[in-house]
Amino acid sequence: MKKKEAKERISLLIAELERHNHNYYVLNAPEITDFQYDLLMLELQQLEKMFPEFASKDSPTQKVGSDILPDKSSQDSSPLSQFEQIPHKYPMLSLANTYDMGELEAFDERIAKTTDTPYTFSCELKFDGTAICLTYKDGRLSRALTRGDGTKGDDVTRNVLQIPSIPHSLVPGSGYPDEFEIRGEIYMPYKSFEKLNLQRIKDEEQPFANPRNAASGSLKTLDPKIVKGRGLECTLYHLITDIPVAATHLEALQKAAQWGLPVSEHAKECRGISEVEKYIAFWDTERKTLPYATDGIVIKVNQLQLQSSLGFTAKSPRWATAYKFKPEEALTKLLSIDYQVGRTGAITPVANLEPVQLSGTKVKRASLHNAEQMQLLDIHIGDYVYVEKGGEIIPKITRVAPEKRGFDIVEAVFPAVCPECGTPLVKDEDEAKHFCPNSDFCPPQIKGRFIHFIGRKAMDINAGEATIEQLFSKGYIKELDDLYTLTRDQLLSLEKWKEKSVSNFLESLEKSRKVPFERVLFALGIRYIGETTAKNLAAEFKSMENLASATREQFLSTEEVGEKLADSLIAYFTDQRHLGIIKRLADAGLQMSVDESKKIIKSEILAGKTIVISGNFSISRDDMKALIERHSGKVGSAISGSTAYMVAGEKCGPSKLTKAEKLGIEIISEEEFYKLINKQ
Ligand code: IVH
Repeated sequence: MKKKEAKERISLLIAELERHNHNYYVLNAPEITDFQYDLLMLELQQLEKMFPEFASKDSPTQKVGSDILPDKSSQDSSPLSQFEQIPHKYPMLSLANTYDMGELEAFDERIAKTTDTPYTFSCELKFDGTAICLTYKDGRLSRALTRGDGTKGDDVTRNVLQIPSIPHSLVPGSGYPDEFEIRGEIYMPYKSFEKLNLQRIKDEEQPFANPRNAASGSLKTLDPKIVKGRGLECTLYHLITDIPVAATHLEALQKAAQWGLPVSEHAKECRGISEVEKYIAFWDTERKTLPYATDGIVIKVNQLQLQSSLGFTAKSPRWATAYKFKPEEALTKLLSIDYQVGRTGAITPVANLEPVQLSGTKVKRASLHNAEQMQLLDIHIGDYVYVEKGGEIIPKITRVAPEKRGFDIVEAVFPAVCPECGTPLVKDEDEAKHFCPNSDFCPPQIKGRFIHFIGRKAMDINAGEATIEQLFSKGYIKELDDLYTLTRDQLLSLEKWKEKSVSNFLESLEKSRKVPFERVLFALGIRYIGETTAKNLAAEFKSMENLASATREQFLSTEEVGEKLADSLIAYFTDQRHLGIIKRLADAGLQMSVDESKKIIKSEILAGKTIVISGNFSISRDDMKALIERHSGKVGSAISGSTAYMVAGEKCGPSKLTKAEKLGIEIISEEEFYKLINKQ
């Protein structure tokens, strides 16, 4: 590689790795697998070795990834940093890692060169969670810090006190030092992870991608009560005392166990690399039976004196390394690609694969995301592809095996027209996906509109996707108002429907006639009109009639209605078909105007103020919005110059934060918000 090329590649790799660090540590939402990340890191390390003139101290190869949110001015205690940051007494470093058994021998040789005395290794599971540093003073847990950027971490003591396996006080008289640190990993067992995600899906919140993100996201919540219910666990693996309590690492862990601390029960002393390899081979299969995620094995020099003479590099100890398990992947043939049309008209390419066994299940389909991803993979029908299970339910294709490419391959061409209705597809520049614009007549989009209409936050009608599917395929429903003219006989003709289900359905249909106007407006599924915008429009225009006769300018002068939204509203209300649907829904008895008598106003504290909420709170987002409204405030969906406050919760959107900062909008925490409205 030429110098110029190397320089360019290095800066590209640095930018990419920094972006992925931010996704992983701060947003808890990685885009790529750990394995793909490690490959990028390895490439950068090799290039920096070949071209040392381009290596710098700031490179990700030299730094520990930081989990601290970028602060607007790190000197102050702005609510952005959310937790107090406290310097670590000893830097909290990362570990060198490898996927290659051969490198373990090199690791051993490097150590052997430095000493004449015999040494052994401690082999341990590498827990896939988030690192924690605990300080015990006089037998009591006095502080818990996250790794942060390695030199200072977030003080999460209040949250850590809610984790049952972490003792608040140690076994009296067990000989613990007056003050010491112990480090370990907080993780979420699979069972708790599944339970949490089911609940989040039910609450229409974004599920966590994997147990690691769930653990680290939970630890960073501002409300310790939330942490309590999340089923987090902890295993400790690194004791740091000023005066040595043992000669070896494993003895030190044993001591910690006697003091009452949770240390790994699977740590084992290995004599030489061949024993290490046996330990790895054993756990590579056995780990699948563990109730929590592990992503490798950590190998540490067991003798503490040798550890201290080996010391550290800027990023990791020289006395330890991690052997990481490759993510399970399977190689199979790509048979064809289906282009699925979603409810909003978005097109998703889905690969049909020759069935293959992967982590205990048979995989037949995998997502290809969008046209760009297909291009990046350079994928052809007939190619052999690697599939991997990410956190998502449907596996993904990570790469093609070009060496297995035959002569019978066919180029995979992204369609120009909608596979369901034949309408030419469109793609906005700022969106990754292609769309079918025929929202009124494209069958999956019609069904999608019904599913949206019956949803909990819309009309809350007692039916599911399967019912809509049947009603649509029998030709009973075409327009939204058709739901209100369904007959008992039509309903009884549906598969598995009996008198009871018919009555339940009709009852919920009856109830939906009382659903407030703002939800009716949301239920119509007008493009870009979410729950909050529907509320704002309802508050401003008061009735469907007023909305239908409003001008573009009037829409634009409404809170948070921009050009795109105003155009969408005008297009919707100038279509005679839509006006017909609205008329028939009104005839069916739906609420077409605001019922002012229903508003329970508690105070005027937030009158004239628009408040944007972002992230998750200890109460549901709906309750949070209701609270704002009951105190006469308006809920905004996007930050603008007229936003009075932004309430930042857990997993708060970083782009919203940046925008709020730029515009000088006051950012407050959930607790500060409660103080504002005087609620304890
Ligand atoms: S020892 C000075 N032991 O893996 C280094 N780390 O990828 C001390 N981890 O930052 C770390 N299990 O968060 C150690 N048994 C174990 C571990 C472990 C998981 C984590 C830890 C570390 C990361 C490196």
